[in-house]
Amino acid sequence: MPKISTKRLPADAGGVADAARALREGRLVAFPTETVYGLGGDACDGTAVAGIYEAKGRPSFNPLIVHVADREMAARYGIFSDQMAALAAAFWPGPLTLVVPLAPDHGLSTLVTAGLDTVALRVPANALAQDLLRAFGGPVAAPSANPSGRISPTTADHVLAGLDGRIAAVLDGGPCSVGLESTILGGVPMALLRPGGLATEEIEAVTGPLATAGSDITAPGQLASHYAPRAALRLNANHAHPGEQMLGFGPMQSDLNLSVTGDLVEAAAHLFDHLHRLDAKGQPIAVAPIPNCGLGRAINDRLRRAAAPRD
Ligand code: TXA
Ligand code: MG
Repeated sequence: MPKISTKRLPADAGGVADAARALREGRLVAFPTETVYGLGGDACDGTAVAGIYEAKGRPSFNPLIVHVADREMAARYGIFSDQMAALAAAFWPGPLTLVVPLAPDHGLSTLVTAGLDTVALRVPANALAQDLLRAFGGPVAAPSANPSGRISPTTADHVLAGLDGRIAAVLDGGPCSVGLESTILGGVPMALLRPGGLATEEIEAVTGPLATAGSDITAPGQLASHYAPRAALRLNANHAHPGEQMLGFGPMQSDLNLSVTGDLVEAAAHLFDHLHRLDAKGQPIAVAPIPNCGLGRAINDRLRRAAAPRD
């Protein structure tokens, strides 16, 4: 990836306007939240979201948290049960992420949700994050702003130490007040998917006793939840057998092509969309070989999981 020069933007109206413009142009901006700095991109722009994974060097596509300015905006993207709505009313803005079913016509990139039919939503309390979300006016996908495998950043210096030259800008809001990632709740029945900046006791005061992912419930968030098509997948295929549909990569005959030019960022942006569309036709899918470098590693990881035998 060609190196770009990463700007440090000040915590004022000009800095926020520059950051919002960069997001609108499909570029990546790290910004402070009360928990940790997030690596933000337009959640409706598949190429921007693919760029987030590329900048972090993530070997796998985990679904990302979508940040919005308030509950009204959250309701455009997710469907809130009474219990989830009560939690949002009690703790937003704040260090709590709620995993809820996707709303119809949500418009989010399928890469943000990694092809799932749920979305993780959060309304951050940090004033600069609020200003940025309002100035941008749309949903912002943001994992922690560190290279994969490194610890989460709580200052703009931490962000630059890991991502300088890989993102357009960092909005410098000083140190994060909580310094620990948000608490994540989701699933049916509702469970704690990740402990974090909001204490479980505070949540249980609203919900009653919570299940813990992995113990009381069978198919909770994080590791267990990944997209699996109904159709059988055959990987590293150079052409389709009779009755198969071909998911291509690079110049070749195919039903759908992840990237005719062999661009891995474009391929990542199309991955879940194309799988969903081919799956809807109900025939097995042959998938062209994807080079195992850059974003290709994450694409191959997801394809292997999608192809794995299941009960
Ligand atoms: O405090 C935070 O939460 C920070 C700041 C930047 O907001 N963000 C953050 O994002 O920690 P990330 O991408 O590092 O963590 C997102 C977590 C992952 O563990 C992912 O598996 C889970 O949220 N997640 C996202 N969408 C999900 C879904 N639909 N179902 C289950 N888990 C989901
Ligand atoms: Mg992280």
